[in-house]
Amino acid sequence: MELNDAITNRVMSREFLDKSIDIEVLNEVLKYSILAPRAGKTYGTKLLVLNKTPDIEDFWCLTSDKDWRENTSLAKKLMAAPVVIIPFASRVAYIDRYSQTDKIKSARNLPLDKDQDWPVPYWIVDTSFVTMLLLLKVHEVGLSALFFRLHHSGKPLSERFRVPKEWDPIGAIAIGYTNKNTVVKKTPIDKRISNAYKEMVTWDLWS
Ligand SMILES: Cc1cc2nc3c(=O)[nH]c(=O)nc-3n(C[C@H](O)[C@H](O)[C@H](O)COP(=O)(O)O)c2cc1C
Repeated sequence: MELNDAITNRVMSREFLDKSIDIEVLNEVLKYSILAPRAGKTYGTKLLVLNKTPDIEDFWCLTSDKDWRENTSLAKKLMAAPVVIIPFASRVAYIDRYSQTDKIKSARNLPLDKDQDWPVPYWIVDTSFVTMLLLLKVHEVGLSALFFRLHHSGKPLSERFRVPKEWDPIGAIAIGYTNKNTVVKKTPIDKRISNAYKEMVTWDLWS
């Protein structure tokens, strides 16, 4: 599959079939997603992979409202996804990495003090890169996915899955097979590109 095809035809799916995913297929997605660039080659991203029904049930219970789960058709279709991956990011991992002797020079102007904000939060950048590769790989292997925000604080989720306190979820990714006929048709590609280009690209001076 060509990259352009993956980029243009990938679409978020909110409706999944009750069909499991082979572990080999899931592992192929994982193995290539983790090759995304990482600032300072830091290991500041961790993917928590849930593929067992009780774990996935706990995930939904801990991160969403009962009313939404029980009374919306969207919830039922979304919660049918046989896999949920939660990408976690660690600020502490970058502070530790940039404090190491081979990095301390390039850490100039980066606050290595635990309480100061970084000019750019590398942990979010890198975890987002991994997430984007994951969405593309999911599409390439014939699966579908939805990246979504957690509606509740990640704390109970972290406690349940024994996530150390320095790791924060950036959202979650539901993955599964979808009925391709139900996928919402996208605006033609030329129009999508021209709209986005106008909004998102500026040459020479801001316009
Ligand atoms: C940071 C982020 C948060 C998102 N949160 C949600 C969400 O909570 N629920 C949802 O249904 N979609 C969510 N989406 C999916 C977007 O709505 C979707 O990517 C966008 O409409 C473009 O559609 P496409 O990805 O199918 O091209 C999110 C996407 C991003 C990048």
